[in-house]
Amino acid sequence: MKTDKVHIFDTTLRDGEQVPGCKLDESEKLIIAERLDLLGVDVIEAGFPISSPGDFKAVNEIAKLVKNASVCGLTRAVKKDIEEAAEALKPALRPRIHTGIGTSDSHILHKFKSNRKTIIERAKQAVAYARNFVDDVEFYAEDAGRTDNVFLAQVCEEVIKSGATVLNIPDTTGYCLPEQYGEKIKYLVDNVKNIDKAIISCHCHNDLGLATANSIAGVVNGARQIECTINGIGERAGNTSLEEVVMIMRQHPGLNLDTSIDSKLLYDTSQMVSDKMGMPVQPNKAIVGSNAFAHSSGIHQDGVIKNRETYEIIDPNDVGVNISSIILTARSGRAALAYRAKVIGYELSKVQLDNAYQTFLSHADKKKEIVNEDIHLIMKEVNINPSPVS
Ligand code: KIV
Ligand code: ZN
Repeated sequence: MKTDKVHIFDTTLRDGEQVPGCKLDESEKLIIAERLDLLGVDVIEAGFPISSPGDFKAVNEIAKLVKNASVCGLTRAVKKDIEEAAEALKPALRPRIHTGIGTSDSHILHKFKSNRKTIIERAKQAVAYARNFVDDVEFYAEDAGRTDNVFLAQVCEEVIKSGATVLNIPDTTGYCLPEQYGEKIKYLVDNVKNIDKAIISCHCHNDLGLATANSIAGVVNGARQIECTINGIGERAGNTSLEEVVMIMRQHPGLNLDTSIDSKLLYDTSQMVSDKMGMPVQPNKAIVGSNAFAHSSGIHQDGVIKNRETYEIIDPNDVGVNISSIILTARSGRAALAYRAKVIGYELSKVQLDNAYQTFLSHADKKKEIVNEDIHLIMKEVNINPSPVS
């Protein structure tokens, strides 16, 4: 069966950057945009040009810089927003305008004090207006996660007629269950007559920790773009994490879905974004956390030393992590101590290992982690010299 490409739309510089404390200056945004292009994302959402002169300038500079990815600017369904975005994106080789409006009853009634008919009109007008400036117009139905499917399908059909090339179905509040989000996408695939003229995009927030699962449910049911951020940063509990969805599709070839991402750059890119944003990555974060390939219990360490695949479903090299680490703690067994001692120059006989292990345990009970310097001390205590280099 043929593998389908899923487009990766990175919104680190828009949905990610709007998080308190994650503000970037223009030069930092340019460095990140260049890295995202190298990483192989298909679309870089560079900002929201109408929101401030700084954002306008950053989008404009990114549009000049990026060579491969499409560069996208966010707008509301407002003419002035669209004009500003079009102007900022002028130098882009592949410009995309991302326009839209809230479609849930909650947004229509409380935010816009409007009605469904008027919202459809505004959506159509915004898309048609954006098409005067660029060929690639993505429409977002904000709060699609809580929008009635029949109405959502009607909106989608109308905006495609007006020229939308991509339909973004955001679970803005992170409310949907994977099954519900997947069904929503399937409903659109089955009920929007002109759906073959547009790509469906998943934009999921992580309020219930389901952003990744929902995005995968979306592509399994026919969406072919995922909107995500490096390290999953974004509004409130964050957006879908880029590294997670990319590696899920890679590790499950049976899905017959893949991306153009160079996965070997994932770890380094995660570190770069974390550094620039001053937003540490949680140690147990999937794929890129410092513990993602660290093994600390004796049973796991013994297994990994015998064969990495016993406890690792991803080769750390595939995501740019050069070693899977065996962390030495009081929970570690003899195999882990022998392994680390060998790495730093001690080939231990069985008797030497038994001896060193008792001393190791008494050190490990006093410290969180035993590092290489501690092992040298332990070896000295038990009179073991480094093995001669052969
Ligand atoms: O979460 C959301 O609905 C958004 C849209 C503006 C695309 O970020
Ligand atoms: Zn969002």
